[in-house]
Amino acid sequence: MSGRPNPSVLFVCLGNICRSPLAEAAFRLEAGRAGLAMSVDSAGTGDWHVGEPPDSRAIAVARAKGVDISGYRGRQVTAADFDRFDHVVALDHANLARLRALRPADSRAALSLLLDHVPGRAGEPVADPYYGADEGFETTWADVTEGARALVRRIAGTG
Ligand code: 4NP
Repeated sequence: MSGRPNPSVLFVCLGNICRSPLAEAAFRLEAGRAGLAMSVDSAGTGDWHVGEPPDSRAIAVARAKGVDISGYRGRQVTAADFDRFDHVVALDHANLARLRALRPADSRAALSLLLDHVPGRAGEPVADPYYGADEGFETTWADVTEGARALVRRIAGTG
């Protein structure tokens, strides 16, 4: 036992019902596969879905990949999250900008865009699937899985 707490990661999108819950689920899967003990959560910059479960289409795509996210509940990100988490990871540029504005000046949390961790995909957002067709959630899952895998490697110090 090192006595140090597990590395902690917070994924942030707009509503906390589509992309960031899927990023949290994918990251839990990938960290588990890598044998990494991590503290993981997700939040939204908006407050419309506070207390609500993820979008039914997100629950369905996660279930198809073997993860039950039906117990997740929406919450809004706060400035205190920058003290609680080592890594705060935005799903797109608009949310990254909101997080930069919210971040306390003395915060040591690392703030990044998820796909910046993927070689060759730096600067790409994870597109919002909320207003689109069901298939969009498969694309979201593929994107967050690629990002999660890369982030696990980075945190584990192997990538
Ligand atoms: P998310 O998707 O940011 O991936 O959770 C959205 C969910 C809800 C809304 C927008 C985006 N909304 O406007 O309610």
